[in-house]
This record gives sequence, C-alpha cells and structure tokens, in this order.
Amino acid sequence: QANERESMYLVSEYAQKYFSDILWNTELGKAIGLSYFKERGFTEETIKKFALGYCLDNWDSFTNAALEKGYQIKYLSDTGLTIVKEDAANPANSKKFDRFKARVMFPIQSLSGRVLGFGGRILTNDKKAAKYLNSPESDIYHKSKVLYGIYHAKQAIAKEDNCYLVEGYTDVIQFHQRGIENVVASSGTALTPEQIRLVNRLTKNITVLFDGDAAGLRASLRGIDLILEQGMNVKICSFPEGEDPDSFARANNLEEVLEYLKTNSKDFIQFKASLLIKEAESDPVKRADTVRDIVNSISKIPDRIQKEIYIQECAQIMNISESVLFNTLAQIDKKEV
Ligand code: CTP
Ligand code: MN
Ligand code: MN
Ligand code: MN
Ligand code: MN
Repeated sequence: QANERESMYLVSEYAQKYFSDILWNTELGKAIGLSYFKERGFTEETIKKFALGYCLDNWDSFTNAALEKGYQIKYLSDTGLTIVKEDAANPANSKKFDRFKARVMFPIQSLSGRVLGFGGRILTNDKKAAKYLNSPESDIYHKSKVLYGIYHAKQAIAKEDNCYLVEGYTDVIQFHQRGIENVVASSGTALTPEQIRLVNRLTKNITVLFDGDAAGLRASLRGIDLILEQGMNVKICSFPEGEDPDSFARANNLEEVLEYLKTNSKDFIQFKASLLIKEAESDPVKRADTVRDIVNSISKIPDRIQKEIYIQECAQIMNISESVLFNTLAQIDKKEV
C-alpha cells in the first residue's frame, strides 16, 4: 500500500516535470502554453516557482512518454493522469488517453511540496468545455485535505499570522507575484474542516477573499461557520463586481492591494450585517432572520468569552438588546444538544 502510493507520487512528479518541459522546451509548448501564462501577466520566475506546464493537444503523448520511461499504466490510471477505456471483449485493445489534453497545467502540492494532482485549464473561453479539469480523488490526492499553494505559503502564513483564502489557482499565483505570499485556495471544492485545520496549525486568523460574483458570495458565507467552529478569527473581503483577487492584483500595485484589503476586510458580523441589512432594512421579519443568522454563526464559536464579545458587537450593529441576543443564543445551543 505504501509502495503503491509512492509509485503514484513518482508518476505525478514525472508528469509535472514532463508538462513543464513541454512548456519551456517545445515550439508548441512555448507558442501556446507559455504565451498563455505570459498573457495573463505571469513572469517566467512565477511560472517556474509554481511549476506550471502544458499538456499537448494530442490524444496520448504524455501517456506514451511515461510508459516509455517505465511508469506503469496502473499508476497512470490510479492518479487519473491517463484515462483507460477498456475494451471488454478484447483487453489488448483498450485505449489510453491523456486526461489533460490541450490544457495548461497547475500542479497541486502537499504541505511538504510533493505533487498530489493537477488542475488543467483550457486556453479558450469556450463555454461548452469545463474551464478547469482536476485530478480525481485518489490514494495520494484527497481533495478535502489539500489547499492549493500551501507549500509556498506556509512560512508567510506563520510570519504574517494571517492566511488569505481565495477561490482559484490564478488568485494564489498573482498574489504571490504581487508580493503577498500568505495565500491559499480551496480550488473548486467547497471549503472543508480539514482544509481549515491545515491553516489552523499556522495561524488563528483567516481572511476570506471572494470573487465579485454571486457564487463567490455564497461560498464565502458557507465557509464562515466552519472557520468559527475551529475557534479561529474570520474576516471577509469582497472584490468589485466582475473582479477576483487575480484580476485585482494584476491591475493594482502592492501598496494599492494591501490598502484595499485593509479597508475592505470586515469581521464576519459586520460583513453579514451589512450584506443582509441592505435587503432587510424596512422589513422586520427579514431583519429578525438576519439577527438569527448572525447569532447562529456566533453559536459556533467554542470560546465563551469570545462568544460574549461578539454578541455585544452584534447588539450594537443591529441595534438590539444584548439580553434578547443571549436568549436567542441559548435557544440555539439547546436545540443542538
Ligand atoms: N474550478 C474548477 N472547475 C471549473 C471551474 C472552476 O475546478 N469548471 C475551480 C478552479 O480551481 C478555479 C476555482 O474553482 O481556480 C475558481 O473558479 P473561477 O473563479 O471560475 O476561476 P478562476 O480561478 O478565476 O480562473 P480564471 O481566472 O482562469 O478564469
Ligand atoms: Mn488514502
Ligand atoms: Mn468565481
Ligand atoms: Mn475567479
Ligand atoms: Mn480569475
């Protein structure tokens, strides 16, 4: 079992090197993959740091190269790098395809830097194809336990005592290039407790940066309670409509980005309150829902003193008496026992 996983690590490492080699050292790789990353504003240094690559637009050139090097089809298939289409009647006729055909490649690394899997992006903005394709769950790639960028971010997270949590690969990369290195992405999956635990070992402070679109907002709202449950402090920062951390960091210098983060990061109560109050201002029923929603989040906080401080803050912002809020909190706690 341990040997099998080691074989999966080795073939993944080979794949990373292969895709990078294609990107840097072949005419097609340079013309298509490298140009793509450069057009997105990534420097050569950045492209190397994140070990980006390109998978050629052929059916099986990666798979064939790996097989020729002696890597076994079992591990190519187990890691999802190769898709095997079995021919039941004639097993010798089974077909092998490169999963990431014609995509630029983002290797996903563990805390210690081992390659666990990949995200692959199409080069066009063709709405019919999935924009990103990711490695499947496997014995070495447990999506719920991995954060994209953690290997490059861990020191900065501890040093800054804060972690920026973004949605995508390119958000992480662009922030690094701008000089902000304490950043990781949940990459496609909804945030999980295990992912938060990974950050929790390095800092108690998370700032969730979400894309300026409806999906980003929903995702960040879901994440808040999970972070509070682990006794961590959570701030939220939104971006202007249509922008994400990548586009914003590309269009602004370091000072401007830091200034934006500073002025727009709100603690979760301010954030929820300002968000919900807008629509609930004149509607007492909705207003009550908002208050309950916030108190519900507060109920997730393990520390009692912290809870109390947040109740006080909520009372002030929502202009409601603390005793009513404490009663609501008690009701929620009772329901959960
Ligand atoms: N994602 C995914 N599959 C998709 C779309 C998105 O796995 N079909 C994941 C990717 O990890 C992506 C993240 O969700 O990075 C955020 O999605 P989105 O904001 O749509 O993409 P961006 O990261 O902004 O990518 P780009 O700037 O290249 O469009
Ligand atoms: Mn396992
Ligand atoms: Mn998005
Ligand atoms: Mn985005
Ligand atoms: Mn983007």
